Amino acid sequence: MGTVIVLLGPPGSGKGTQAKRLVEELGIPHVSSGDLFRHHLSEGTELGKRAKSYMEKGELVPDDVTVDMVIDRISRPDCEEGVILDGFPRTLTQAEALDEELEERGQSITIAPLIQVSDDEVMRRLTARRVCEDCGAVYNLIFNPPEEEGVCDVCGGDLYQREDDNPETVRHRLYTYYKETSPLIGYYFARDLLVRIDGEQTVEEVHQDLQEAIKAAKEQG
Ligand code: AP5
Repeated sequence: MGTVIVLLGPPGSGKGTQAKRLVEELGIPHVSSGDLFRHHLSEGTELGKRAKSYMEKGELVPDDVTVDMVIDRISRPDCEEGVILDGFPRTLTQAEALDEELEERGQSITIAPLIQVSDDEVMRRLTARRVCEDCGAVYNLIFNPPEEEGVCDVCGGDLYQREDDNPETVRHRLYTYYKETSPLIGYYFARDLLVRIDGEQTVEEVHQDLQEAIKAAKEQG
C-alpha cells in the first residue's frame, strides 16, 4: 500500500512549497488541484473556462468538476505507490469521494498534516508571492526573493503574480476556507489522521516537522 498524504491548511500556508520538497524524498507525485485548474485555464479547455470565474472570486469550483478532475489524475500509474495531495479535498463531499476511491484501490490516507498560519501571515505571504511562468518555482518578495527581480533563479523564466493573490481575493479565499474547508479538520481528527504543524517557522523547520510526522505515521501504519 502506498503513502497518501493530504496536506491541509489555509491558502498561503505553504502546502505547495512543502509538497515540492517532499516529492524528492518520498518519490511519489505532488497533485495540486489548484495547479490542475491553472493548467486547464492556460490551455483554454472547457473545464478551465468553467473554473475561471470561481477562481477569480476566491470561491470553490463545484465538487463534481473538481472530484472528476482529481480522481482522473490520481488514477494514473505514477500514483500507484502513493501521492501528495495539495488543495484537495476542500469539502466534506470531496473528502468522502477520495475515501471511496482509495478504498476501491485498497489504499488509505496515511496522514493529514494541517499547516497552521495566522490570517495576517496569509495576507502578507500571498500578496508577496511570485511564480515562474515556465517551471512553476514559487518565490516570495519578503521571505525568499529571486536573485534578479522578476527572473526565476532556476530556469530564467519570467515571474508573475497570480490573479487571485490580490488583498481582496485573498480575504475571500480565507473566508471560503473557514466556511467550507475547515470542517475537514474535524473529519480527519476523528479518523486519527490529523497532525498539526506550526507553519510559521522557516521552510526548513516546517519541512523537518512534516518529515517526522510522516515517518511516525508510516511506522504506525
Ligand atoms: P490553490 O492553488 O489550491 O490555492 P490555495 O489553497 O489558496 O493555496 P496556495 O497555492 O495559495 O498556497 P500554498 O499553501 O500552496 O502556499 P505556497 O507554498 O504557495 O487554489 C486556487 C483556487 O483554485 C481556489 O481558490 C479554488 O477556486 C480552486 N480550487 C483549487 N482546489 C480546489 C478544490 N479542491 N475544490 C474546489 N476548488 C478548488 O506559499 C505561499 C507563499 O508563502 C509563497 O510566496 C512562499 O514562498 C511563501 N512561504 C511558504 N512557506 C513559507 C515559510 N515557512 N515562511 C515564509 N514564507 C513561506
